[in-house]
Amino acid sequence: MSSLTKKEMEILSSPTFQQIINQHLENPSRRTILKGSVGVAALGFLGLAGCGGGDGAVAGAPRSTQLNAVGFSSTSLSTADSVIVAEGYQYQVLYKLGDPIAAGVADYMNDGSDAANNPSEFQFRSGDHHDGMYFFGIGSNNAWDPEASDRGLLVVNHEAITPLFLHVNGPTSVAGVRDANEALKEMYIHGVSVVEVRRGSNGQYSVVQNSLFNRRIHTLTDMEISGPLRGNPFMVTKYSPNGTRTRGTINNCASGYTPWGTYLACEENWAGYFGNSNPGTRTSNEQASMRRYGVRATVGNGREGWNTASEVGQVGEPFSRWNVGIVGATAADDYRNAANTYGWNVEIDPFRPNSIPKKRTAMGRFAHEGAWVGPVEAGKPVVFYMGCDSRYEYIYKFVSTANWDPADMMGGLQAGDKYLDFGKLYVAKFDADFTGEWIDLTTVANGTTITAVRGSGSLSTAPITYTVTDSNEQFWNTRLLADIAGGTPMDRPEWGGVNPRNGEVYMTLTNNTSRRVADPANPRVYFDNDTDGDGVGDAGSQGNVNGHVIRWREDGSDPAATSFEWDIYLFGAEDDDIDNPNVNLSGLTTENVLSSPDGLWFSEKTGVLYIQTDDGAFTDTTNCMLVAAVPGEVGDGAEVDVDNTAGGAGVVRTKVGAVGTLRRLVVGPKDCEITGLTESGDGKALFINIQHPGEETSDLANPTSSWPYPLAGGGFGNPAAGVTPSGTIRPRSATIVLTRIDGGLIGQ
Ligand code: FEO
Ligand code: CA
Ligand code: CA
Repeated sequence: MSSLTKKEMEILSSPTFQQIINQHLENPSRRTILKGSVGVAALGFLGLAGCGGGDGAVAGAPRSTQLNAVGFSSTSLSTADSVIVAEGYQYQVLYKLGDPIAAGVADYMNDGSDAANNPSEFQFRSGDHHDGMYFFGIGSNNAWDPEASDRGLLVVNHEAITPLFLHVNGPTSVAGVRDANEALKEMYIHGVSVVEVRRGSNGQYSVVQNSLFNRRIHTLTDMEISGPLRGNPFMVTKYSPNGTRTRGTINNCASGYTPWGTYLACEENWAGYFGNSNPGTRTSNEQASMRRYGVRATVGNGREGWNTASEVGQVGEPFSRWNVGIVGATAADDYRNAANTYGWNVEIDPFRPNSIPKKRTAMGRFAHEGAWVGPVEAGKPVVFYMGCDSRYEYIYKFVSTANWDPADMMGGLQAGDKYLDFGKLYVAKFDADFTGEWIDLTTVANGTTITAVRGSGSLSTAPITYTVTDSNEQFWNTRLLADIAGGTPMDRPEWGGVNPRNGEVYMTLTNNTSRRVADPANPRVYFDNDTDGDGVGDAGSQGNVNGHVIRWREDGSDPAATSFEWDIYLFGAEDDDIDNPNVNLSGLTTENVLSSPDGLWFSEKTGVLYIQTDDGAFTDTTNCMLVAAVPGEVGDGAEVDVDNTAGGAGVVRTKVGAVGTLRRLVVGPKDCEITGLTESGDGKALFINIQHPGEETSDLANPTSSWPYPLAGGGFGNPAAGVTPSGTIRPRSATIVLTRIDGGLIGQ
C-alpha cells in the first residue's frame, strides 16, 4: 500500500461519524446529514429515527423548510443571447470552459490557441459542455457536510465539446486524418472537474484556483473495472490484458451522489466515439451487442475522428484505442473490446484526489443518463434509479445487496465496493392499469434468444440473433436482457429525482420523434404545430415532440419494492398547442409552457422541484429554461383518453397528475441547454450549467452567441477584464450561480 498523502492524512484525521452526529444534534435547526437522505438513516442507526410513520413522512424527508408555493413570478419567454432570471433574482458566472484550476496556469485566451501545442495543459483547465454536477459542502477537517455552504467541492461533468470553438480555425484534418494535438486536446477537454469553491463575504462564489482538491478526470485517466465484470474476457484490451482496468471516461451526462460521499459520473453517448477500421469476424452475439448499443460493426471513424490521428511520436496508443477493429492476434493485442469498457457509472471520490475512479459494472451498461439515490435508511438496501437516454430505451433500478450502515459515511471507494459491486438490476414495466413492475434481469434464462435485434439506423438491418449464454450478460448487454425481460420502451429517459416530501420518484422523458404507436406511459403521438413559419425548430416532426415527466410511488414506499403505482406528472407543450387538449394535457399556460424536460432535481433544502429543458422543438419561440414546481403526489389527477388520431396512433388512456404551481425561473442564452442543477447546503445558491451556447454556429466569424461575454464589470476577460479581444468573441459553456437579491431561500 502506498504511503498516505498529506491530504489523505487530513481526511483520515477528520471527525468520526459519531462526532459529526453529536455536533449536529447540538444544533438541530440546521439541515444536516441527519435530516437529508443520509441523516434519517443515521438516526435509525442510533435508534432515534421516527421516520416512515403514518404522517406520510419517509426516510429522506427534510424537516426544515417546507414549501407550499413558489414565491416568484415567471420570467417571459426569451430568444435573447443572455441569461434571463425572475424578478428578485441575480446570477454570477462561476466556472467557464478553459478556466485554470491549478496554480500558475494562465487565463484562458478563448481564441483556439490555448494548449494548442501542449494538449495535456487542459488537465488543469475546465472542460467543455458542463452537465450533471453536485456540490459537496466541506465541513470541518475536510469532511463532507451536506449543510455547509461557504466552502465546497463542485464536481462537474463535461459531457462533450463544440470543436469549432476549441481550435484556432475550428477542427482540422488533412485527407481525413485529424491533427494529433487537436485530438489530444479534445480528449482532455472531456470528462469531469472537481473544483473547490468558496463563498466570499459579498455572497459571490469563486473557484480556488490552487486548491489541492482540484482535479480533472478525462479520457486518459486510469480507471479500475469493478464489480462482476472485473477481469472478464469481455474487458481485455491491450491497455489491460487482464481486464481489470481501462482508460478514461466519456460523454458524462447527468450524475449522482452516494450517501457515503462520492460522485457518480454516468457515461451516456459513448458508443459513437468508437470507429472500426476492420470489422473482422465477429460472433452473432458480438454483432448483436454492437448494433443494440450503436457501436460501429462496419468501417467508420467515430465521432470526432480521433482514431484517424497519427500515433507517430505518441505514447500509449491514444488514438487507436478508439478503434474496435480486430487488428492484433488476440484481444490483448488490440482494442477490439475497448467499447466494452464504456457505458458504465464511474464512481469518483472527490475528497481523495489521488484515488483511482472505478467503473461499477453491477449497475449495468447502457446510455447512462444519471443515477439517483432513493431514500436511504439504516439496515435497508441502497437503491439507485437510472435511465437509458435513447429512443425506446428503459428505466432501471439497482438495489444493493448490502444494507446501509451509516458508519460507511466518508468511506470513499471502499464503501462503493460494498454497495455498488453487488446488487440486483431491474427494468421498469409500466402497465395499463397504472401499476408497474420491476423485473429482475436475473430472471432471463440462459439460452433465451432474440432473432431480430434492434439498433440504430446507421447499422445494418439484416437480422441478427442474440442468445443469452452467461448470467453476466445482464451487466454488459443490459439493453438486450431488458428487451427479453419485457421492460417498457420509453421516450428517452433523462434525469430522475426523489421527492423528499413523500419518496415518490420522478423521471423526465424528454421527447421521442420516432414514436408512432402510443402506450399509457408514452401516450402522445402528434405533429409539431409551429405556426410562425420561420423554419426554426422542428416544424412537421411527429411523435412525442415535447416530452413528459413520469413518476411512481413504490409499494409500501419501500425503494426496494418490486411493484409501484404511476402517473404522468407533466406533459410539455408549446404556446402553439395551448388550446389542443390532446397535446396540452397538463393545461399549461403562457406562464409555464415548456418543451423537452431533461434536467430534473428536487431541492434537498426546500423540496422545490426544478425542471430544465434541452430542446429543439420550441426554440423558434424561446431558448431553453429552468422552471420550478411544487408537485402533489401520484394519483392526484385523473384518467384521460388521449386522441392521437391526427398523429396516426389512435386513442390511449393515461393518468395525468395535477401540475400545481409551475413557474419559469431562468431562460438561457442562444443554442444552449440548461442543465446540471445543485445547491449550497443552505439552499440560498443554485448552481446551474449553461451548456453549449452558440452550438448552432457554422461560421466561426459569426457565432450565434457570445455568452457569457461581456463578463461582470463590462470586461471580456479575454485575456484580461476590460480588454476586448481581437477577432470574434467565442461563447463558452459555464456554471452560473443563481441567488436571490435579498439573500433568501431559492424558490420561495
Ligand atoms: Fe446528455 Fe441525455 O442528455
Ligand atoms: Ca412553436
Ligand atoms: Ca415546435
